[in-house]
Amino acid sequence: MVLQSWINIENHLNEERVTTNISILNEKIRQYIRRNFSNDPKDFMRVPLMLITHPPPKIRFDDVIGIEEGRREIMDMLLMLNDFYALKKYKIKPPSGILLYGPPGCGKTLFAKAIAGEWGVPLIHVLPSDINSRWAGETESNIHHLFRFAKYISPCVLFIDEIDGIGGSRDGIQWRSERMDLSQLLTEMENIACHYPPVLVVGATNRLEDVDFALLRPGRFTKRIFVGLPNKNERVKLFKLYAKERPISNDVDFEYLSEITEGRSGAEIENLCNNAARNAWRRWRHRKKDGEITYRDFLDVINFRVKKQGVPIYR
Ligand SMILES: Nc1ncnc2c1ncn2[C@@H]1O[C@H](COP(=O)(O)OP(=O)(O)OP(=O)(O)O)[C@@H](O)[C@H]1O
Ligand SMILES: [Mg+2]
Repeated sequence: MVLQSWINIENHLNEERVTTNISILNEKIRQYIRRNFSNDPKDFMRVPLMLITHPPPKIRFDDVIGIEEGRREIMDMLLMLNDFYALKKYKIKPPSGILLYGPPGCGKTLFAKAIAGEWGVPLIHVLPSDINSRWAGETESNIHHLFRFAKYISPCVLFIDEIDGIGGSRDGIQWRSERMDLSQLLTEMENIACHYPPVLVVGATNRLEDVDFALLRPGRFTKRIFVGLPNKNERVKLFKLYAKERPISNDVDFEYLSEITEGRSGAEIENLCNNAARNAWRRWRHRKKDGEITYRDFLDVINFRVKKQGVPIYR
């Protein structure tokens, strides 16, 4: 496989950078479907469901708060993937897999989209439910088609969300077919590492312990990035981000709001801002004045009680 990878790189040596021409890509998608599937609706059902974000997503790393170390490493990775000459000179095997893990609502899915946006390539976003099938052998075939399609439109980011749903540990699996699905995924991951133009496979899970050990070995998900709960500064930034385009009164103290929301995820903070905005809207609707979102609105929705020692408990 390594040999093939170098041959592929040789073929691309005339290009300086990986570029994605939008019209070519559209045509590629059409061609792929035309070549692989007939017009028969039954046949078309065999195309694994996937959400293709193309042109590349508009989300950038700046839209994601936190994950500083992770974004530096990924920026480095993307530069490496774009540099054919260096890869050849130093005989570097390009990185092919990134696994994002951490508690729910902390920005894994958002970050995966930002990777594609930052790299400027299309994003294929799939969930286990898009490829899992109850018919024997069909899940494997879906996984195969998915990776084949990704190679076809490469360079691209193939994002498998909630990957524990496909790449779950074999320890708990009873059915032979499920083991086969995992083996298929392992093989495809291995093969895609040698493909050029590159396909970056990004997986996300909030149950790292459930992901099969074989998927975590170097060559598959080489890079693992923890996406954790935001710290105090990051919570201030999150509040400001979600308040940015809303009419907010000047007295809102984001520092204090951040202090009393320790342990809350990005998604929860977004939800708090949304609920505060709903309170303001209700007031505005009834009185037709005072349209601003006040400090009180935020405090009301944060809904906390303070223990005697002063440690907030959240309901
Ligand atoms: N670090 C962050 N920066 C900016 N927005 C965030 C961040 N974390 C969460 N959000 C907001 O919360 C929403 C949900 O986050 P996201 O879907 O990325 O979480 P997740 O980690 O994938 O959760 P899950 O594990 O449940 O899938 C995002 O669309 C975004 O609006
Ligand atoms: Mg997610």
